[in-house]
Amino acid sequence: MLHLHNEHKYMTKLLNILREQVQMIHAGHTPDLAIMADVARYMNEYSDISHHPKEDIIYRKLAERDDSHKAEVVALLIEHEATCKKTESLMDSLRQTQQEPGRENLKNLALRCEDYIATTNSHMDLEESQVFPRVLEVLTDEDWAEIINEIQPGRDPLFGKIVEKRYQDLFHAITSQVERAAEDFTMAELVGLGAAMENIGVIATYSNGIASAVQKRFRQAYRSNAVAYRKLWRAKSSNVGDYIGVTIDCALNNLDTYTEALRDVSRILRKARTQIAEPYTTRLRIYHDMVRKPVNVDLDDADR
Ligand SMILES: [Fe+2]
Ligand SMILES: [Fe+2]
Repeated sequence: MLHLHNEHKYMTKLLNILREQVQMIHAGHTPDLAIMADVARYMNEYSDISHHPKEDIIYRKLAERDDSHKAEVVALLIEHEATCKKTESLMDSLRQTQQEPGRENLKNLALRCEDYIATTNSHMDLEESQVFPRVLEVLTDEDWAEIINEIQPGRDPLFGKIVEKRYQDLFHAITSQVERAAEDFTMAELVGLGAAMENIGVIATYSNGIASAVQKRFRQAYRSNAVAYRKLWRAKSSNVGDYIGVTIDCALNNLDTYTEALRDVSRILRKARTQIAEPYTTRLRIYHDMVRKPVNVDLDDADR
């Protein structure tokens, strides 16, 4: 099952290559039809001939072992047949486009690829999420011994120990895609981590700023309250109204102070927000500039 799971990962890589080429078609560029044909050929020569038949053996055993899975197994076997046909149609469409690489053929090819990618991915998703766990749960050691006997070991011409010469270009395309993904990931990590680390400093600085602004405002308020009461005390006033008046004045003064402090805090927070966002925006701009364009861009089209 691990072997089948790995083959799913390989197929996903190939579907990503196909998707990249489809994006080029949509962008008005000329796709690498030879690489696309290599992907389709691998799916036809290896996935359809080796991967699906191995699964068929396992799934049939699952249906034998537990009747309740029969309908599901039949549906999966039909999907395998349908996938084989779709691969053949994809190859036909590629051959046709290679002979006449006009816009109409390219558009049809893109549609066919999208359908192929979506169908294959949803089939693999179903297997990974539901069928494989069920197989592992239901089949016994005895079943596995029989399955291993029945399975014909196939040599993978692309992801095996030796990459066959006819798949060298596709192998390089996969490698460079993986490298690009790794670079993008590393760059994203750097942008995120760097900014996060700087933010700690920015937040600390602005937190101190907020604290001192609030302290300053309330110190002012305390001082003016104290001055007002001191004046009253020095005047030795016995009029309760005077005390109430001063208290009201102080309360209003405190409210003003509170409003001023809030205004200071929001000004500081706005400044902090700009400073926190700045490294992201600048570096994301640099990052977007650095993300490489696909290798096979048609320069004439791009200039236009
Ligand atoms: Fe399958
Ligand atoms: Fe599969």
